[in-house]
Amino acid sequence: MPNKCIRVGILGIGSYAPDKILTNKELETIVDTSDQWITERSGIKERRIASPEQATSDLANIAAKRALEDANVLPEEVDLIIVATNTPDYFFPATACIVQDYLGASKAGAFDLLAGCTGFIYALSTAAQFVISGTYKRILVIGAETLSKVVDWEDRKTCVLFGDGAGAVLLGPVPEGYGLVHSKLGSDGSGKDFLSMPGGGSRIPSSKESIENKQHFLKMNGREVFKFAVRSCGDGTIEALKEVGMSSEDVDFFVPHQANDRIIRAAAKKLNISFDKIAINLDRFGNTSTASIPMALEEAVRQNKIKDGDNLVMTAFGAGLTWAVAILKWYDYRNR
Ligand code: ACO
Repeated sequence: MPNKCIRVGILGIGSYAPDKILTNKELETIVDTSDQWITERSGIKERRIASPEQATSDLANIAAKRALEDANVLPEEVDLIIVATNTPDYFFPATACIVQDYLGASKAGAFDLLAGCTGFIYALSTAAQFVISGTYKRILVIGAETLSKVVDWEDRKTCVLFGDGAGAVLLGPVPEGYGLVHSKLGSDGSGKDFLSMPGGGSRIPSSKESIENKQHFLKMNGREVFKFAVRSCGDGTIEALKEVGMSSEDVDFFVPHQANDRIIRAAAKKLNISFDKIAINLDRFGNTSTASIPMALEEAVRQNKIKDGDNLVMTAFGAGLTWAVAILKWYDYRNR
């Protein structure tokens, strides 16, 4: 739980999605699927797809620049950059270093963080500790993905679900009474095979066989991930709220990971939260993994759906398996 002296909150937010839209109708021409199946099973209608030239850092760069502009902070004032991603530009160097160079954030440290789709909340929570401890004042936390580059476009069970995008927030000190109230990180590595990209690492190094066996593509056991997601989104959120003496009645706005409409509805039911208090963008962007929460949050902020002092709850789940919850008392930095 945060130190009572220094409070940490969001001081700027930005997002970016590639221009190219891929609709469910267009997907019908790529794999054996239908707009009806995708809509009914996931709620997704379309997603954005990066161009062949665009890597994850290209999306992250724009989102980060927009977050800095929103916060009215110069790149050289940034102390640290954390990029949460499952689709880095390279194994190494870190995508965060590429963003650091692009921005000209000359005084910033930079590293990537891997926690499946939960990465953004893991990164937010990690970054928050530096601010709370008084070590750093301005930290860029970015979720960015080009999942279209790692999905198997012949596998209808996965390729219809994902999209590309990036979202970024600038974290820093906020006045007493605002900011991060609690963050809770969870994992269950026994589910590691339910969602993975098996090839290319030290377990299955890249080889002719790994390519022939399609091991460089995302693999998912959708049903198992679904069960885990409903559990973690609902019960995990209730548990995190309870730990700080709150209940779901205290939640003013909910930003869940945008993976599946049915998962969000099940969580909303468990939490007894009405749909108008929930950020939804998966219909237009699909599952953008680590980018989904900051992208959905940015949209809600721009639409003035979150007011000063609101209790904002963000919940995610993903590969690992991992899950996480962050509870924030919203600081309306835009109207200061
Ligand atoms: N179009 C048409 N039919 C399809 C498609 C498709 N795109 N995909 C699967 N089907 C078929 C299956 O082959 C199956 O047919 P069968 O019964 O003849 O075998 C049938 O539809 C049902 O398939 P299920 O997998 O059981 O469908 P389900 O209702 O479970 O929905 C889904 C699948 C949408 C993937 C769901 O399980 C889900 O959302 N799971 C969670 C996934 C998720 O959130 N992943 C992201 C995690 S975050 C991260 O870290 C990246």
